[in-house]
Amino acid sequence: MKASDRVGVRVGRVVFGPGMAGRYPCERGALGGCGTSSRPAVVVSRARGQWARARVATGDDRRTRSGGESGRNPPDLIVNHGSERRGRQLATEGLSGRGSGDAMVVRGGNRLNGLVEVSGSKNAVLALLAATLLADSGKVNLKNVPTGLTDVGNMVRVLESLGATASQPSPGTLELDCSRLSTSEPDPVFVGALRASFLVAAPLLGRLGEATVSLPGGCKIGTRPVDLHLFGLRRLGATVEVGGGSVRLGMAGGALRGADVHFDYPSVGATETVLMAAAVAAGTTTITNAAREPEVEDLGRFLSSLVPGCSISGLGTGTIVVEGSGGQGTRSGGIAHYVIPDRIEAGTFLACGAIAGSDGLVVSGVRLAHVQAIADVLQEMGCEIHSRRSAQEGSGDFGDSSLCDLVVASPGPGALRSVPSIETSPYPGFPTDMQPLLCSVLATSRGKCVVTETVFESRMSACRELRRLGASIEIASGGSSATIRGKGLVGAEVKTTDLRQGVALVVAGLAASGETVVRDLSHVDRGYVGLEAKLAGIGADVTRVAME
Ligand code: EPZ
Repeated sequence: MKASDRVGVRVGRVVFGPGMAGRYPCERGALGGCGTSSRPAVVVSRARGQWARARVATGDDRRTRSGGESGRNPPDLIVNHGSERRGRQLATEGLSGRGSGDAMVVRGGNRLNGLVEVSGSKNAVLALLAATLLADSGKVNLKNVPTGLTDVGNMVRVLESLGATASQPSPGTLELDCSRLSTSEPDPVFVGALRASFLVAAPLLGRLGEATVSLPGGCKIGTRPVDLHLFGLRRLGATVEVGGGSVRLGMAGGALRGADVHFDYPSVGATETVLMAAAVAAGTTTITNAAREPEVEDLGRFLSSLVPGCSISGLGTGTIVVEGSGGQGTRSGGIAHYVIPDRIEAGTFLACGAIAGSDGLVVSGVRLAHVQAIADVLQEMGCEIHSRRSAQEGSGDFGDSSLCDLVVASPGPGALRSVPSIETSPYPGFPTDMQPLLCSVLATSRGKCVVTETVFESRMSACRELRRLGASIEIASGGSSATIRGKGLVGAEVKTTDLRQGVALVVAGLAASGETVVRDLSHVDRGYVGLEAKLAGIGADVTRVAME
């Protein structure tokens, strides 16, 4: 094999080539399947011969997880492809697990009971991870982190590609050291694997005075532009250049300055972006029509403790006021932050109890206010839901409120009554992330419901796939509303296309007769840790199987 053939292409941190494998200590971490720090995450090699032999025989010669030449210190991913551009694309696809993965076989009919614990919030921790880039000394400890999620693994890779290091001192804890960043441009392969990676733009700008981040593409649920993020940053004095698939940010006048930022739409991501920039800007920033989501509140609390001289008020209201630190002082790590519980995961288990039937399923470790809109709808449909002090109480620090356990009882499929209409809206309205799951519950309930999705323009894919299970659903032209008439469901093979659509199919399978095979769980793995074990733990008949 000619040396030129084995020239590796730099993806991630190191050029990889013959004889280098042994030099990287292997920490096959539990972190979203990715190890931490020193070994290469991805290798693109033009050589087919030798690498091919190294592959674990999966029959798929585009990508695989396998041992390197020596079988030790395996990179996360080997991509065999002649062209570097296509190699990078495949690497990004491989990292976000698209098109690969296991299936969940669900045998419906079991009532669900027992206790299921809710993990830390995916959407909160992704923003918190981005914000750790503001810590220019010391280490930050994030606790209650759902470390097994592929999204969390990919966000850590984004931080590592900037020069940060990450480790797991204990289960559910991530320790991040961002004191020695080496670049203001995260690796596009990792950025491409995760939309939320765009959240690193503002802290990089605030920390280094510049940032270049590739534009996150759209996804199955919508085009998802970042114009509001850029609008907010411009208001704080950032220079913004968009071109070549990336955004280049700089600082007009060498510093960010506080300003009034009014959003036409209370975007979660754009509010988080402006919060992180405003925390280190000079002066006062007032965000009006800001997002009120709990994940935004959690980020605001974290920034107030991370950035000396920064104070934030109005979190959880539509108007947030940030007194920025003006970039003064060292933002020393040395802090620990406890991530709020995942309200959508909690809502998922409430929906499971509702659709399958339960006599007192306990969904443990929840903030009641965060799931109130979901509980209200399920109660209107005939579920009984009450809260009690949590078995997990005291294991966290959520400001002045404590965790609770929600106890749900439901008569089960065919016995719930539908509600006339549901419309998704920003918090505290009915969450768009729960819409696909509620469609599954409505599809088995007596009566008719018109479901309208107002947050994302193409998020009715669950309804399309539910029809394979025999659901009676008409999707209106324009694709943002559906009329669902409840009836019995029959198991079938269905395919996931995005995270919440995928888990909605698993939920539907709990009430369908026979077997439902939900293919391509890689989407679901982005947002749920050990879903099959948690479901089996409350009595569901589910099995995860590897699919070719
Ligand atoms: C966050 O996405 C969540 N993701 C989403 O969860 C969630 O659905 C969404 O908020 C709404 O609650 C994370 O936190 C990582 P937005 P985000 O900015 O920040 C438009 C899940 O399943 N918009 O509030 O992207 C946008 O296109 C995911 O866990 C602009 O037009 O949501 C959308 O239609 C899916 N311009 C609407 O606003 C912008 O600059 C809401 O988006 C930004 C957004």
